[in-house]
Amino acid sequence: MNETLLIGCGNLGLSITEAFLDEGKKISIIERKAKTLNFLKKKKSKLVTIYNNLNEINFLKYKYLMICVKPQDLEKLTKQLNGFIKSSNTIISFVAGIKVSSLSKSFHLKLSILRFMPNLSIRYGKSITAVYSTNVLEKEKKKVNDFFTFFGSFIWVSNEEEINFFTAFFGGGPAYISYFLKCLQNILKEKKINKQNSLKLIFQLLNGTINFLEKEKIDFSDLIKKVASKGGTTEKALMYFSKNDKLENIINDAIKKAEKKSKDLSKYYN
Ligand SMILES: NC(=O)c1ccc[n+]([C@@H]2O[C@H](COP(=O)([O-])OP(=O)(O)OC[C@H]3O[C@@H](n4cnc5c(N)ncnc54)[C@H](OP(=O)(O)O)[C@@H]3O)[C@@H](O)[C@H]2O)c1
Repeated sequence: MNETLLIGCGNLGLSITEAFLDEGKKISIIERKAKTLNFLKKKKSKLVTIYNNLNEINFLKYKYLMICVKPQDLEKLTKQLNGFIKSSNTIISFVAGIKVSSLSKSFHLKLSILRFMPNLSIRYGKSITAVYSTNVLEKEKKKVNDFFTFFGSFIWVSNEEEINFFTAFFGGGPAYISYFLKCLQNILKEKKINKQNSLKLIFQLLNGTINFLEKEKIDFSDLIKKVASKGGTTEKALMYFSKNDKLENIINDAIKKAEKKSKDLSKYYN
């Protein structure tokens, strides 16, 4: 009764599966793509159970049903699930843009439903995952935090709209940071430093910065003050970044655009 079933094992589902396996946790999977099924079978892991059809599954065995299909596949899936699902099942939907209320309406039974919005770092246990639910008790929330602790950290939001911000900020976060680092890499390319070396150097720059912040227990402004001495070179660059809050405004506007896109997409599906 404490096992987990994953429905849809694509990009995100596979990351989740690998995270379960790294943690030594059992996972059952239902997926329709033959290529993925073969890949999973080749792993020959005792922790993985693969089903081909919903009617092969004893739903009483499962506490959490993690739904990882694309939004356009959800309606068909919930219709099928209605024939099998049990009231003891807790639904965890990773499906972007679909509200808990919409999902709740599509099930005949009154179920506990949680909406998770992770980022790609879920694969290595470092996701910042926003969670929303309407009818889950505090005691149950603690169980979810404890059971899925290997995903990274959770931020429980009290208003579902907030998920749009978390999608924009933490969902997109790894890509924004990579974009900034790619800009730095392009500068090194102009200085004739090859791609392999520049990647190594930028990693060291990033790791060194994080390491310094952590070891010194200081915040970003303190570090900036330490590097940018008055009248020096870093100050000159920072003055250019921050003139009229130029860079900060660009970042702010970009996140707002992503948040609005998330809102618009969710209007389409609900
Ligand atoms: N990728 C991310 O980083 C990320 C992050 C946050 C949230 N999400 C959400 O997570 C969901 C999955 O995203 P994804 O990128 O992993 O999509 P994906 O790669 O398309 O994976 C979905 C998988 O589910 C399969 N599937 C669909 N309906 C099924 C059914 N009834 N039974 C069994 N398998 C079924 C699909 O097979 P077919 O290909 O044959 O249709 C596909 O292999 C989406 O709703 C997305 O919004 C993704």
